[in-house]
Amino acid sequence: MPLFTDEGLEALLDRYPREDIGVYAMGDTPDTWRRGRLGNANPSDLISMVKEGRVWLNLRAANTKDNEVGDLAGSILSEMRAAMPSFRPIKPDLGLIISSPNARVFYHLDVARVMLFHVRGNKRIYVYPRTEEFVRAKDLEGVVTHETEEEIPYKPDFDAGAQIIDLQPGQMVSWAQNAPHKVENADDMNVSLSFEYMTPVAIARANAVYANAWLRKAFKYNANLEPKPTVLWPAKVALARVLKKLAPIDKDTPSVFPHCFTLNKSGPVFDSEKFAI
Ligand SMILES: [Fe+2]
Repeated sequence: MPLFTDEGLEALLDRYPREDIGVYAMGDTPDTWRRGRLGNANPSDLISMVKEGRVWLNLRAANTKDNEVGDLAGSILSEMRAAMPSFRPIKPDLGLIISSPNARVFYHLDVARVMLFHVRGNKRIYVYPRTEEFVRAKDLEGVVTHETEEEIPYKPDFDAGAQIIDLQPGQMVSWAQNAPHKVENADDMNVSLSFEYMTPVAIARANAVYANAWLRKAFKYNANLEPKPTVLWPAKVALARVLKKLAPIDKDTPSVFPHCFTLNKSGPVFDSEKFAI
C-alpha cells in the first residue's frame, strides 16, 4: 500500500497528532531502553533518522487517530471475522511501528493479546512459553497492576526455549496472551503493525491476575499464571472490579521509563549524560 512507502509514512507522520507518537531509542542491552519526546525533527528528518540511527517510533492507537489506518484496521478485522466467525476482538488498538535497522525490543510481555503484522524490512521475533520458567506469576502481576512496566526478568539461556520466527513482509505472528517475547530488527528499516485486542476470556484472565496481585499482598496467596479458566475466575474477576473501583490505577505515577531525550533534527539529545546510550 502507498501508505507504507517512505512518502506515505512521511505524510502519515505529518498529519498524525504529535503527542501520540511514542519515541524510543536503545542500545544492545535491556538497560539501554530509553523513552524520548519529539523535538524539532520534521517527518522527513524522522524517516532519515529511522534509516540511519537506532530509533523506534510507535504511532499509538493509529486505528482511531488516522482514517486511512482506521480503514485498514477495519478491513483486517472484518477479513478475520469472515474466516473465524467466533473472533470477536474487544478494544482493538493498532500501533504502527517504524523502526531502525538493528533496533530491538527487549524481553517483555503485554497484558492484551497481540497480532504483529509485518510490512517492511526483516526482523526476528522470539516468543517464549507462558510458563513459570520464563515469567514468574509475581512479575506478571506487577505488569497487570502497572506497578512495573512491561519488562520482566530475562536470562540469555531463556532463548534456548523460545520459538524463533524470522518475519518477512506480509507475515503475521500471534501468541498466547501474556507470553514473553523480544524482537530484533535485521539490518534494514522495519514497518509493522502491532494489533492489540482483548477477548472476553482475555479480560477475565487479566482481572484474575489483578486479583491475584492483591491476594498475594494481603494473604501471601501463591497464585499461578492463570494458564486456563478455572471455577475461581468469576470470584477473582468480581474482586478485581471492586479493587479497581476502590483504588483506580494511577496512570500519573512516575514511569520507570521517564522521558529522557528529545529527538531533534540533529538526532537524539539526552537530558543528561547518565541517560546517554
Ligand atoms: Fe510486545
